Amino acid sequence: MTDLDGRVALVTGGTRGIGLATVRALAEAGATVVLTGRDEAKAKEAAASVSGSGSVSGLALDVTDAKAVSTVVRGVAKEHGRLDIVVANAGIMEDALLGMIREELVDTTLSTNVAGTIHTVQAAARAMMRKRSGAIVLLASIVGEYGSAGQTVYSASKAAVANIALSAAKELGRSGIRVNAVAPGVIETALTAGLSAEAVAENVGKTPLGRLGTPEDVAKAIRFLVSDEASFITGQILGIDGGLTL
Ligand code: NAI
Repeated sequence: MTDLDGRVALVTGGTRGIGLATVRALAEAGATVVLTGRDEAKAKEAAASVSGSGSVSGLALDVTDAKAVSTVVRGVAKEHGRLDIVVANAGIMEDALLGMIREELVDTTLSTNVAGTIHTVQAAARAMMRKRSGAIVLLASIVGEYGSAGQTVYSASKAAVANIALSAAKELGRSGIRVNAVAPGVIETALTAGLSAEAVAENVGKTPLGRLGTPEDVAKAIRFLVSDEASFITGQILGIDGGLTL
């Protein structure tokens, strides 16, 4: 079992889905975890639902607000005396065929998925720089590499997220900070709950492992990437898709 005893972690968008599963996985491995969500009550409720050897707390944070991200990340590092792990998980997905893309969809998707990730990496790097160590994981997606009909905006945002991992890994490596991304396939969460039965069957049919992914499948890979088991791994985009993209 991965040992994260004594480590302090922050997970954005940690109130449900992949984020909450990641909070659980990190807490089970002994980390002290702060999860954030846009709604403070929901963040506190989600934190209270997690049992693990590490302590878990919840804070309000909208990742589109650069100043708030900086304040919260700095506050967590100050309160706990360190910040070792940051998972930039907060993200949104809304489908739209090319002809139906509204300007507002472009703005909200890019400000949440791209700018939100940049704000989080920036604040994490500042906090980790002092100790010259840390691990950051970003949430990309298979559609960021392969594209997806009806998901041009979301796919473009996730391609950007993957590239943020590469550039940040190059820039922060000398400071002892590793940056990786995971690229999940279709994972059963609220984000994909609207998929039709036909779309689910089609995806499962194309997946060598013969099922959709679970939030826990992704959380376990994230836990590996932030642990010392991955001490020489940086700038990687790890596919977690049951072989769907083969
Ligand atoms: P979800 O919708 O269950 O969770 C997303 C979380 O992000 C929620 O807690 C939501 O409140 C939070 N969030 C959204 N906008 C925010 C903002 N502006 N500030 C702070 N928090 C915000 O979705 P899921 O599936 O757990 O997704 C987590 C991440 O994984 C996302 O970045 C998503 O794009 C990515 N992903 C998910 C896949 C899937 O099949 N479910 C596949 C590939 C990537």
